Amino acid sequence: MDDMKTQLKLALLSGIETELLAVLAADTQTAKSPGAKPQPVLLTADLAVVAAAEALLGSGEFKAGANETVLLHAPTGVTAKRLLIVGLGKLARVTANSVRSAAGTAVRFAKPRGIRELAFALPDSALASPELTLPPPGPSTRAAIEGAFVGDFDPDTYRSDRKDQSVKSFTLAAPADADKAVLTSALDEGVIVGESQNFARSLVNEPGNKLTPTILGQRAGQMAEEAGLLWRSFSTDTLHDLKMGAFWSVTQGSAEPPALIVLRYEPKGVTEGPVLGLVGKAITFDSGGISIKPADNMEKMKYDMAGGAAMLGAMRAIALLKPKVRVIAVICAAENMPSGTAQKPGDVQTAMPSGPGKPGKTIEIINTDAEGRLVLADGLTYARQLGATHLIDAATLTGACVVALGHVNAGVFSNDEETYGKFNAALATSGENFWRLPLGEEYAEQIKSDIGDIKNTGGRWGGACTAAEFLKVFVEDTPWIHLDIAGMAWVEESKPYMAKGPSGVGVRSILEWVRSY
Ligand code: BES
Ligand code: MN
Ligand code: ZN
Repeated sequence: MDDMKTQLKLALLSGIETELLAVLAADTQTAKSPGAKPQPVLLTADLAVVAAAEALLGSGEFKAGANETVLLHAPTGVTAKRLLIVGLGKLARVTANSVRSAAGTAVRFAKPRGIRELAFALPDSALASPELTLPPPGPSTRAAIEGAFVGDFDPDTYRSDRKDQSVKSFTLAAPADADKAVLTSALDEGVIVGESQNFARSLVNEPGNKLTPTILGQRAGQMAEEAGLLWRSFSTDTLHDLKMGAFWSVTQGSAEPPALIVLRYEPKGVTEGPVLGLVGKAITFDSGGISIKPADNMEKMKYDMAGGAAMLGAMRAIALLKPKVRVIAVICAAENMPSGTAQKPGDVQTAMPSGPGKPGKTIEIINTDAEGRLVLADGLTYARQLGATHLIDAATLTGACVVALGHVNAGVFSNDEETYGKFNAALATSGENFWRLPLGEEYAEQIKSDIGDIKNTGGRWGGACTAAEFLKVFVEDTPWIHLDIAGMAWVEESKPYMAKGPSGVGVRSILEWVRSY
């Protein structure tokens, strides 16, 4: 895992000895007229740093746009060898989330240039005034550390000539009079969250041949041992014992056995209150099965386990941050393959019964490529049986969600306003983009089957919504959140603050949602 060292330094910026000192700038221009020029201002009260950058900021060359950078070598009056100015965009819109990407941008600026050590200046709260509002130091610190870890991650792990460009040391610089206790605990939190997000990304990055369901179970177990979680990874026999007919129908065509991965976080002394159930789709490769996918882009379907990976990342962070609420994670890992033993369109499957003496719901398989909802159906039922009072699931579930929201927002669905409200509030801290999509009786109509209880696709229109309605059948009346991360789990184009490849989306929001209980 990432071995980036982090530390806090409360000192005058201009006196810090470092290869690279990153300082933030925001655009203070408030006029909206077309001729209004950007007015970049450095967010530090250190006069030597301000003087070193004065000519540059006055030149109009640097506009302080979000993640815009400019580098000064041997800045006058400043000890650092280089001064990197990173833009945050319009001051009025600056939040801790802008600081997160700016820190990632600084790290990704350093990496290819052989710079292995840098200092990053927190926005200086001494500058704050009614005209100049800044995000508070605690949240900014946590976000900066998270952003640094996220920026440090690169996915080229299988290149034989790989050069390790990772940043070895990241110093967060704050003014000498800053509250050290607040910043220290925010920094520690940022390290846990950033490393947990990268843990999820490292899993998603693995190809299907290197990360089978069984190996995912082992990786989950290793993480659980290190973080102090209870865990088990079950396979074929348990699926049969539990009558998980929907989950089994997906895995039956593959030579790789499935893994039903269960992790538990049980904080000492907490014996009542909610039990949160985290359920993840982990299809380690989705070929579509007999309803096989077209060849173009099929290689991307190694990331069809990103929902499960997000839950594992969140569980790691939960174990280390120790919120006072019980959490169970259920991750359904399988390959979806065509073969002589694969399920066929038209087959009818019986899902796991929701309780003793109850019949399992019957599912008509229309399209074997709609497999995520099948494994989740049994995963959600199982989480409820293990005692979950509130559910959240994450899945790269539908192409329809990508069509609706693009690579800008992930979809979120919920059957309960209070539970949704908590998730929505968590987004302010996580900085992740989710957009609520509707459930509804008319969507449920689309998945009624002529032969059984429901069918596994509802046709082309409203595909993300009918998939969510399918899951809702198994959630019954348990308060529940469904995250469709199909369009957000893989970054298609590199960003200044993040490599292209696995994003780790969901880890931070799921964690914050858990912490709100
Ligand atoms: N894993 C896919 C969804 C997906 C699509 C994820 C694009 C990431 C990017 C899922 O299993 C799937 O194949 N869904 C089908 C459902 C359809 C057959 C009803 C889809 O969305 O096309
Ligand atoms: Mn599929
Ligand atoms: Zn899939």
